[in-house]
Amino acid sequence: MFNKHLIPDAQNLSEGKALNIKVADYDFLITKYEGKLLAYENLCPHQNKQLNWSSTEAVDEDGDYLKCHHHGALFSPRDGSCITGPCQGGQLKKVTIGMEKGNCYLLLA
Ligand code: FES
Repeated sequence: MFNKHLIPDAQNLSEGKALNIKVADYDFLITKYEGKLLAYENLCPHQNKQLNWSSTEAVDEDGDYLKCHHHGALFSPRDGSCITGPCQGGQLKKVTIGMEKGNCYLLLA
């Protein structure tokens, strides 16, 4: 059984960008890769910090990777794997996204 949480403006998200969404005490990143929306817990496997803070974006300068702005780890938007940085080989935790009546939802267990 999942709890559904609406992702506002998900359909308007551009490739190379990331949205933050907060549900209770948890923070999530929504990104788009090759036209597909993907969601991850916003928690870097290096030191369990949010990838971004205040107004910084959780993507690199070119929008090719999700980026932790604490120590520079880069993550593939496709599967959340860390490709370089202090947690190389680590992984962002993926979260399921569902669609219903044209809206996107985080589906949380
Ligand atoms: S906390 Fe993310 S790279 Fe160090």
